[in-house]
Amino acid sequence: MIQPRIAVAARKGGVGKTTVACGLASVLANLGKRVLVVDLDPQSNAGYLLGTDPTAPGTAELLSGNSPTPLEAGLGLYVLPGGPDLTGHNIQALDPEDLADAVAPLDYDVLIFDCPPGVEYLERLALVAANVALVCTDAHPLAVMGAGRVLSELKLRQQKGRKGASRWALVLSKIDLRRSMDQALDKQLALTYPSIERLIVHQDSALAWAGAERMPLMQYEPTSKGAKDLQAIAHWVSNG
Ligand SMILES: Nc1ncnc2c1ncn2[C@@H]1O[C@H](COP(=O)(O)OP(=O)(O)OP(=O)(O)O)[C@@H](O)[C@H]1O
Ligand SMILES: [Mg+2]
Repeated sequence: MIQPRIAVAARKGGVGKTTVACGLASVLANLGKRVLVVDLDPQSNAGYLLGTDPTAPGTAELLSGNSPTPLEAGLGLYVLPGGPDLTGHNIQALDPEDLADAVAPLDYDVLIFDCPPGVEYLERLALVAANVALVCTDAHPLAVMGAGRVLSELKLRQQKGRKGASRWALVLSKIDLRRSMDQALDKQLALTYPSIERLIVHQDSALAWAGAERMPLMQYEPTSKGAKDLQAIAHWVSNG
């Protein structure tokens, strides 16, 4: 089987990218895979949420040609932290294919790239290194707009025959069907993007609490609604 290399992107901030990236990593590790989360966010949230040292050498060092040791967050679950060094001139000057080259020798069953909000040169490194993209949006129109920008970039790259993700889905994140905006989102996306798979992650306090307690989701609350949603996403990634 081809190694899944999954970019989790949204362009917009705060829509649940890191929660999806870390939750999915925990689900896949729980299935016996060796999973590496590559954090591309200067905020370095993924390492923190997974209970490791978010200030340890990580993705910036990898992109600088070094070999940082991924931090172990659980059985089969590893993370390369992000951090402020990702905003350095040397990283900004990289070729968009440099992350793809840097991760090629790493020996994991699955790679998950957690993209930052807004910072397009870092997001692009992930979209190019990935073969699958999960494009997250919550129900807010600004988030839908951000997801649309990522989808346009993915489609354009594919049309031009460029390296990068060749398969993608929308992740409808933090969905609470008691809210009218959330009720409308699925229909709206189905109309705008009829051929793109839509995967739902409900609003679930277990997802927020796992992060707050700095524990991998499947260790914290494996039977939660959020865990079930992420298991369905893992299934789409693995079998789609
Ligand atoms: N499905 C969910 N249910 C409940 N809370 C959630 C869910 N997804 C995310 N959250 C909460 O929303 C907040 C933002 O989530 P997260 O950090 O994953 O977003 P992000 O898109 O990675 O943000 P950033 O753009 O800053 O990187 C966090 O407090 C997180 O716990
Ligand atoms: Mg994040």
